[in-house]
Amino acid sequence: MINSKYSKWWLLTLLCLGGGLARATEPGRPATHTFALGPTQFLLDGKPFQMISGELHYPRIPREAWRARLKMAKAMGLNTIGTYVFWNAHEPQPGKYDFSGNHDVAAFVKMAQEEGLWVILRPSPYVCAEWEFGGYPYWLQNVPGLKVRSQEPQYVAAYQRYIQAVGKQLAPLQVNHGGPVLMVQVENEYGSYGNDKQYLTLNKQLFEQAGFDGLLYTCDPARDVAAGYLPGLLPAVNGLDNPQQVKQIVRTHHNGQGPFYIAEWYPAWFDWWGAPHHTVPAAQYTARLDSVLKAGLSINMYMFHGGSTRGFMNGANYKGDTSHYEPQVSSYDYDAPLDEAGNATPKFMAFREVIAKYRPAGQPLPAVPAARPAAVLPPLQLTRTARLLDRLPAPVANATPLTFEALKQAYGFVLYRATVPGGSTQTLKLTDLRDYAVVMVNGQRVGTLDRRLKQDSLRLTLPTGPVQLDILVENMGRVNFGEYLLQNTKGITHSVRLGGKEVKNWRMYGLPFEQAPVVAKATGAAPVAAGGPVLRSASFTLNTPADTYLDMRAWGKGSVWVNGHNLGRYWSIGPQQTLYVPAEWLKKGSNDITVLELLKPEQATLTTLNHSLLNELKP
Ligand code: GLA
Repeated sequence: MINSKYSKWWLLTLLCLGGGLARATEPGRPATHTFALGPTQFLLDGKPFQMISGELHYPRIPREAWRARLKMAKAMGLNTIGTYVFWNAHEPQPGKYDFSGNHDVAAFVKMAQEEGLWVILRPSPYVCAEWEFGGYPYWLQNVPGLKVRSQEPQYVAAYQRYIQAVGKQLAPLQVNHGGPVLMVQVENEYGSYGNDKQYLTLNKQLFEQAGFDGLLYTCDPARDVAAGYLPGLLPAVNGLDNPQQVKQIVRTHHNGQGPFYIAEWYPAWFDWWGAPHHTVPAAQYTARLDSVLKAGLSINMYMFHGGSTRGFMNGANYKGDTSHYEPQVSSYDYDAPLDEAGNATPKFMAFREVIAKYRPAGQPLPAVPAARPAAVLPPLQLTRTARLLDRLPAPVANATPLTFEALKQAYGFVLYRATVPGGSTQTLKLTDLRDYAVVMVNGQRVGTLDRRLKQDSLRLTLPTGPVQLDILVENMGRVNFGEYLLQNTKGITHSVRLGGKEVKNWRMYGLPFEQAPVVAKATGAAPVAAGGPVLRSASFTLNTPADTYLDMRAWGKGSVWVNGHNLGRYWSIGPQQTLYVPAEWLKKGSNDITVLELLKPEQATLTTLNHSLLNELKP
C-alpha cells in the first residue's frame, strides 16, 4: 500500500527542487507558487521579486468597475494590489455573514489574478482605513466588557468566528494554493495602540487556524515597529520612504535581515468635514519613489485608488480627547494616482514613468485606458416630496434615551421624541450627543447641534400646551483610530435635560436607511412649509449613461441614493461639494434619485457637473 503521507512528502520535495517555476499540483488544478523571505528580497518561486503594489478597497469601488480599476493598476506598472478586509461589511449582525455583491472579496481577489496581479491581503481585522469603527462591527460594543485589540476572551471569540469565515473565502486564494495572495497582514499598526506580544501571537494563531498558512506580516509606522512587530514575522514599515532607514528598522526587528517592505506609502491624505482638501503634487514624490525602487525595496502605495466611502461607512478621528471629533467625508479621492472616478491623474502618469524604468526588459507597460466620459445632465426637479416625520416606523419606548447600539441599529439616524410642557423659554441640554442633531418643536426645526463644534445645548422658546420635542440624531461615523475606540456608542448616550430637569418617556424611531427610501408621488407645498427634514425624489431618463457629479452646493446636509445605491453624505460646509455617480449605476432609460435633506426642505433643483468639487469650504 502506498503511504499517502509519504508520497505527498516526495511530491513536495520534487516541487521544491524544481523551484523557480509555477506548478500545478494536479492536472486541472490552478498553478501554485512559493513565496518566501530572502535575506534582502522576497522570493517568488525562488527568484527575487520586487512588489510594486497599490492599495484599493473593493467596497469603495462599484463591483461593476472592479476590473477597470485593476486594468488601471496594471497600466501604471503595478504588479500587486493591496486590500483590507472589512469585518463590519462581512458580519453586519452577529453570525450573519455577507460575502455577496460588492462585498464578494473572493471574487475581487480572483479578478485581480485574472488581470495578472498579485494580492496583499489585510484582514487585520482592525483596519483603521477611515472606515466606520476601523472596520469593527458596531455590535461588538453591545457585549459588556468586550475589549477590542486585546486578549479579552469575548473579543477573541468574536474575532475567531469571523476570521474562520474569512479563511473559508480567502485562504484557498493564497499563492501556495493556486491563488494570487502573496502575504497576509495580521493586525494593523498595532504598535501605535499597544505592546502586548502575546496578543500578537494570538492573532498569528487565529490566522493560521483559519487556514492562512502562507506568509504573515505586521506593519507599523517607523516609531512604533518595536511595539508592533512579532518576532518571526516580517515587520513592514509604514509612512517612511528613506531606503536606508527602512532597511535599518526592518533589520533591527528581523534578525538583521530583510526583505524590506513599505506597507503604506501615502501619495497624499484623506479629508474630513470642515477642513481643506489634501493634495500633494506628484513632483514631491517621484524622486522618492525612484529611490525606493532603485534600492530594491517593495512598496504598497496607500491609496493607489481611494474611490468613495459610500453609505454611512466613513470613520472619524479624535484629536486629543473625545470631544474633538473629525468625521471623514464620503469622497476617498485621497489625491491618489487614480482619482475618485478611476481616471488617471498627472500623479498616475508621473509614477508610471518612474515605474517603467524598473520593468523587466521586453515588457513594456500596457497603454493607459482613456478617461471615462463624464456628462452634465439637465437640471433635475425633485418634485416627489415627503416629510421625514410623516414616514416614521414603529417606535421603541423607554424612560431614558437609548443609544443606536441598545436599539441594535448600526448606522443612519434615530429620531428621539418626547412630550414636554410648553409656555416657557428653557435650555435643552444633551448628554452626550453623538454626533449631529436637528431639533424640532411641534415638527418645526428650531436649531441644530454639532458635536464637532462641541454644541450640546440650545435655548428653546416653547409654545403653550404640551409640546412635541423631536431630536433627529445622525451617526456621523464611529472613530476609527486611537485609544478611544471603545467610546464609540451613537445617538444620545445618557440623558436630555430641559431647564435642568431630566426629560423622561422617550419614543425612539430607527431610521437606518438600509434600503433606499422611495417617495411615490408628488405632493403639494405642505412639506416645505413644515420646515423639517424631507425626502425629495425624481425620475430622469438617460440615453447614454455616463459618470456625473451631483453638485450639492445649493443644498444643506443629507444623503443621496441613485437607483438604490447610497452615494454617501453631503454637507454644505465642505470641503466635498459633489457626489460622484458612477456610470455603472446609471441605466439607459428611466433612473431614480432620492435626496434626504435635513436643513433646506425648500431646495428642489439638483444640478450636475462633469467634474468633482472636493475643495470648497463654506463657513
Ligand atoms: C494608517 C492606517 C490606514 C489609514 C492611514 C491613513 O496608516 O494603517 O488604515 O488609516 O493611516 O489614511
